[in-house]
Amino acid sequence: MKIAVLGAAGGIGQPLSLLLKNQLPAGSELALYDVNPVVPGVAADLSHIPTPVKVTGHGKDALGEALSGADIVVVPAGVPRKPGMTRDDLFNVNAGIVRDLARAGAEACPQVCWLIITNPVNSTVPIAAETLRQAGVYDRRKVFGVTTLDVIRANTFVAEAKGLDPRDLDVRVIGGHSGNTILPLLSQIPGVSFSDEEARALTARIQNAGTEVVEAKAGAGSATLSMAEAALRFTLAVLRGLEGEESVMCSYVQVDGMPTEFFATPVRLGRGGVEEILPYGELSALERELYEAMLPTLEANIEKGLAFARQGG
Ligand code: NAD
Ligand code: LMR
Repeated sequence: MKIAVLGAAGGIGQPLSLLLKNQLPAGSELALYDVNPVVPGVAADLSHIPTPVKVTGHGKDALGEALSGADIVVVPAGVPRKPGMTRDDLFNVNAGIVRDLARAGAEACPQVCWLIITNPVNSTVPIAAETLRQAGVYDRRKVFGVTTLDVIRANTFVAEAKGLDPRDLDVRVIGGHSGNTILPLLSQIPGVSFSDEEARALTARIQNAGTEVVEAKAGAGSATLSMAEAALRFTLAVLRGLEGEESVMCSYVQVDGMPTEFFATPVRLGRGGVEEILPYGELSALERELYEAMLPTLEANIEKGLAFARQGG
């Protein structure tokens, strides 16, 4: 398998590449691409770690080379938030970056699985999908918004609140990846229950966790290390799926029969990418209320992304 990381020299890209160098199966290739000229140095640095994973570095004029033959492309390229900004405030810069990377991928690796981390995910995933569709290579089973960070945060915060081991939890988080579109299904955790007040407070903490990190970093960026871990987990799950070992993860994907065209929901990962969109189960009264409340925002984020891509950016 060849995995390309686009934005590999960044705050997420570097620790993610380190984790992948250590955990990809023997014989894998890790291609690192970034417009930052430090990227060959990052690749040289990682290549000295004694694991059977080949690392290559590709500067700004070598995107095609990085993408050629890739099975999975992970995209953390783009600018992060500063305090006071919403994820949507990143749209003007990041939308064009994702569109251009998708265009390049449509030529160099039309069958690849796209794992989009770049914010605002609610819009950048529709941009990637529409760009690939225009190029005639869109396969909805292979374009994913990475929302695993919401899941690992939910696992951590629920474990803290209930005195559990977070490794035993797998909280479903549905909807999208910003503010009130992040909906953790706390009512569905086996053996765990919350009062309405507790569920509201914990949901708000999970929805606000990205902002918590942005504020704590005070202008130096957003979550990078926990995001690298989340992206590692999701990349390995997609990769194992392609090799025939199926698993279920939440991801923001194109869906049918739901109020919005893209939605984060549990999906069964397998040889074709998304093998099946799974139902997210029954919602509590509180979750139903939050679900209804998120829809206008999510719909607007999706439309904004699609309109950008349809107008050619
Ligand atoms: P960063 O600024 O540290 O790194 C971004 C990297 O992208 C830089 O190295 C930059 O040179 C590179 N880059 C910029 N334009 C590029 C292009 N056209 N092609 C290739 N590389 C390019 O930022 P970061 O902290 O790594 O965050 C990256 C993105 O991930 C941000 O948009 C952030 O909001 C998002 N993010 C998403 C999640 C999530 O849960 N999905 C979590 C955290 C951060
Ligand atoms: C996160 O959830 O940490 C990311 O989406 C980054 C951000 O801007 O909050």
